[in-house]
Order: sequence, then C-alpha cells, then structure tokens
Amino acid sequence: MTSPILVTGGTGTLGRLAVPLLRDAGHDVRVLSRGHHQPGNGIEHVTGDLLTGAGVESAVAGTETVLHLAGGPKGDDEATRNLVRAASRAEVRHLVYISVIGADRVPLSWLRSKLDAERAIADSGLPWTTLRAAQFHGLVLTMMQKMAKLPVIPVPGGLRLQPVDARDVAARLVELTLDKPAGLVPDLAGPRVYGMAELARGYLRARGKRRPMMPVRMPGKAGRAYRAGENLTLDGADLGARTWEDFLAEQLRPAR
Ligand SMILES: NC(=O)c1ccc[n+]([C@@H]2O[C@H](COP(=O)([O-])OP(=O)(O)OC[C@H]3O[C@@H](n4cnc5c(N)ncnc54)[C@H](OP(=O)(O)O)[C@@H]3O)[C@@H](O)[C@H]2O)c1
Repeated sequence: MTSPILVTGGTGTLGRLAVPLLRDAGHDVRVLSRGHHQPGNGIEHVTGDLLTGAGVESAVAGTETVLHLAGGPKGDDEATRNLVRAASRAEVRHLVYISVIGADRVPLSWLRSKLDAERAIADSGLPWTTLRAAQFHGLVLTMMQKMAKLPVIPVPGGLRLQPVDARDVAARLVELTLDKPAGLVPDLAGPRVYGMAELARGYLRARGKRRPMMPVRMPGKAGRAYRAGENLTLDGADLGARTWEDFLAEQLRPAR
C-alpha cells in the first residue's frame, strides 16, 4: 500500500484542480482544510489550521509527499514554518510548494511572506520542489469585474501581467509532485504579456461594455519594480497553453 499524498489547500482554486489529477494518476489523497468535508473517491479529509498548527502533525503523519498549496493574504510564512516542522518530524520525502513570480523581486509584504515560506522549505533539510507561477486568470477576472463597476477604470501605467490558467499550473504541479525533488524549477507564466489597459479592454469587449480609462501611477518601490517588469518571466520560463482570451471566452460565454 502506498501512503496518501497530503494536499494543503486542496479545497482552494488550485487544489480543486490538482486533487483529481493526482487521483487520475492512481494516488490516494489526503486534503488538509480548516473546514469539515466528507471523504469520498479516494480522498480523505483532515481538519487542521496551518496558522495555529492545530491538526497539522496528524495530517502529515504517514505521508511521504506533501503538495503545499494553502495560502492566504497574509501569514503564508508562519503557516509554512508550521508545516515544515511537522513534515520534518514525519520524515517527509518530498515537499512541493507553489509560490509567485517576483516573490524575490517585488517589495510587497505578501510577496515577502511567500519568499520567507520558500526559504523555510529550502532550509528545512527536506527534499523539496518550488514552482513560482504568475497570477491566475481567475484572479485577473475578479480584478477586472471590480474595476468595471467604477465609472472610470484606473489603469496603473507600466503595469503588465502575464496571467496563467490555474489548470496549467495544477497540471505542472502534479507532474512535479510525482517526480523527484527538483529545488526551484523554472517559473510558469501565461503565454502572453498584457498591459492593464489591454486586459481591461479584452474584458469590456467580452462583456459588451464600455468604460473610460484613466492612467494612474503606482507609487513607491513596489511601483518601480512592477514598471520594471519584475513580476514577469520573459526568458527561460515554462508558458501555460491557455490564453486570457480563451479563458474569457469560456467564462463569459452567454448562458443557453
Ligand atoms: N491566485 C493566484 O493568482 C496565484 C498565483 C500564484 C500563486 N498562487 C498561490 O497558489 C496557492 C493557492 O492559491 P488559490 O488561488 O488556489 O487559493 P484559494 O482559492 O484562496 O484557496 C486557499 C486555500 O488555502 C487553504 N487555507 C488557507 N488558510 C489556511 C490555513 N490557515 N490552514 C489550512 N488551510 C488554509 C484554504 O482551505 P480552507 O479554506 O478549506 O481551510 C484553501 O484551500 C496560494 O499559495 C497562492 O499564494 C496563487
């Protein structure tokens, strides 16, 4: 009998895509979540909270591979340190982590906490793999939906994004999880780089809406880093297959 693969964040956007791929590859899966869920179809659910550490030790017990996808607006560093402690005690043989492109280059506190989480894993002595991905299409769509509610859309000058489809990220992470520990692997971004105005125009066109746009300036060091493209991966990266336009066409297809 093989041990189950523990997936933290298995109930989130990325986790809900990765878990079935692990099941299709023939693996039992244990999902750690703060909520209660019914087991089924080779998926065991355990309750725990990575931020307080409650339930984490028993979630990790008996697993050799951990796919760590849990994340939130803050505290990913602390949550990851708690997971690493439990994984070290359980002598986990492969810890796989999802981070964000630019974690090491854009000075924002949530990216700093992703970088600290990466470091906790790299310094743990456990065999590890970390993938940095770009923003998911779904996140960009949520941003656009919020911005389009305003009478005028603010467009931060020089900000570009290279959004990637969460399905492409999930597939890559599952490949990495089932392979040998590889350290920091090439970034995964979407197939094209877009300016914010272009993303907004694509969204408005797909929704049949019109809005005036107004350029705004992103302040501070983070603004400078974004204008310099530190959140982008232009060389040597893996590129997802699905474009922003493909995603919009799927999501905004009129209901029949
Ligand atoms: N979204 C993006 O554009 C993007 C881009 C690059 C990388 N990432 C990274 O990818 C990961 C997954 O993102 P996502 O968009 O799938 O996130 P999501 O949909 O917001 O889901 C977050 C997941 O984390 C779990 N979680 C949060 N706090 C937890 C805690 N204290 N203890 C245990 N579980 C906790 C949640 O589980 P419960 O609520 O069930 O407890 C949920 O499954 C994150 O690490 C994120 O930084 C995201």
